[in-house]
Amino acid sequence: MDYSNAVPVTREIYWVGFYDEAARLHCNPYLLVDEQDVVFIDPGSIPHFPVIMRKVMEVVNPEQITYVIAQHQDPDVCGNLAVVEDVINRHDLQIVAHSNCIRLLRHLGLRSAFYATDAHDDRLILKSGRELQFLFTPFLHSPGAITTYDVKSKSLFTSDIFAAMSVDWALFPSGDFLTPMDLFHQTYMPSNRILRHCMERFERMDLERILPQHGSVLEGDHITQAIAHLKALPCGIDLVEEGV
Ligand SMILES: [Fe+2]
Ligand SMILES: [Fe+2]
Repeated sequence: MDYSNAVPVTREIYWVGFYDEAARLHCNPYLLVDEQDVVFIDPGSIPHFPVIMRKVMEVVNPEQITYVIAQHQDPDVCGNLAVVEDVINRHDLQIVAHSNCIRLLRHLGLRSAFYATDAHDDRLILKSGRELQFLFTPFLHSPGAITTYDVKSKSLFTSDIFAAMSVDWALFPSGDFLTPMDLFHQTYMPSNRILRHCMERFERMDLERILPQHGSVLEGDHITQAIAHLKALPCGIDLVEEGV
């Protein structure tokens, strides 16, 4: 697959990430293009900014972007927010995040307004009536982490949950896509108990696809396999020996 340009995942969802062949950790910013709104999800880091913004511009005029969702505050997720908002250059741009995340994002010195998901019934209704629902996933791995569910396309953007690391990365996985998830979750997720609880919530959802911020897009059987895999994965404190 050619990753040098934006990659459509659906007719309305685009991957606009940077494929660094030497890296084990690839970041996946996404654009959701609706009738009158464009939503930019986990826009990425400063070093990736030139490539990401070039790919955004292949799909839309940046001034069409009305919302940027920061699903948590890590530098790889949204370290480029200050330059992204400058390029978007709209006075009515809103940065969507949980208030536990916004408290930290304020230190980036942004000029756009914040849209706190927890102050808006965990949802955002676009001008077309399209509904985005936010699931608060605290400690996976940030206290302000959210995931975003696009009701229309049944797509769940999960940020670091379902993240994977590997040198032979592919946006749509063909081989073993479960093992590459292990090290990331073992390292960054706090415990199996918290991760399993989240997987049980995802199991009850009507999902067509999962779009994580690292690793691969999961569709069909891959979704149930990944949920079952992470439900059983010890991570974080589970792997720390007593007394350490
Ligand atoms: Fe993160
Ligand atoms: Fe990340």
